[in-house]
Amino acid sequence: MQVPSNLNQLMRGVLYPAANVVFFSQNENPANLKTPPGQDPSLETDPLLSTFGGWVAVENAALALSDSANLLLIPGRKCSNGVAVPMDNPDWVKFVQQLRDAGMTAYKAAQSKNQDNMIEASNALNDSCTNCHRKWREKRNPADRCK
Ligand code: HEC
Repeated sequence: MQVPSNLNQLMRGVLYPAANVVFFSQNENPANLKTPPGQDPSLETDPLLSTFGGWVAVENAALALSDSANLLLIPGRKCSNGVAVPMDNPDWVKFVQQLRDAGMTAYKAAQSKNQDNMIEASNALNDSCTNCHRKWREKRNPADRCK
């Protein structure tokens, strides 16, 4: 196991983009999306418009979030301020499990192609992000993150 990213980079690179794909499907039906004319779906930077777009993109983003829970538990990762990710704290493990569960709930909701289910799943997902951020990210001084 290797941990090339710090926690902030992992959040920006994996969790944040995937969560936005899940959140999108609350307000708009991904089935109605079309790649703009002249654009090649295989080169599309928005997963929702790509070759694997629409509801499939939502399913895959939800699974990526669930899988990313494992990345949050690999030893050796540091936060952006150099403090070790607090994975020995039982609350960390609890919030990571919430993320894993919310990802699976969102996966099932995406399979159902039902936007009401996506609203519920998105709320659970948002809670999992917020619970952990409240404890370890929302600090006046960035040096206090992850402590
Ligand atoms: C188990 C804890 C935990 C969970 C769950 C979690 N985060 Fe984070 N997140 C953090 C911490 C701690 C930081 C600050 C990391 C640092 O400074 O290195 C962070 C940072 C971020 C950042 C970067 C903010 C910045 O200032 O650059 C984004 C974006 C982010 N998280 C999005 C998300 C989203 C979206 C979710 C849910 C899908 C999520 N996070 C779930 C702990 C968590």
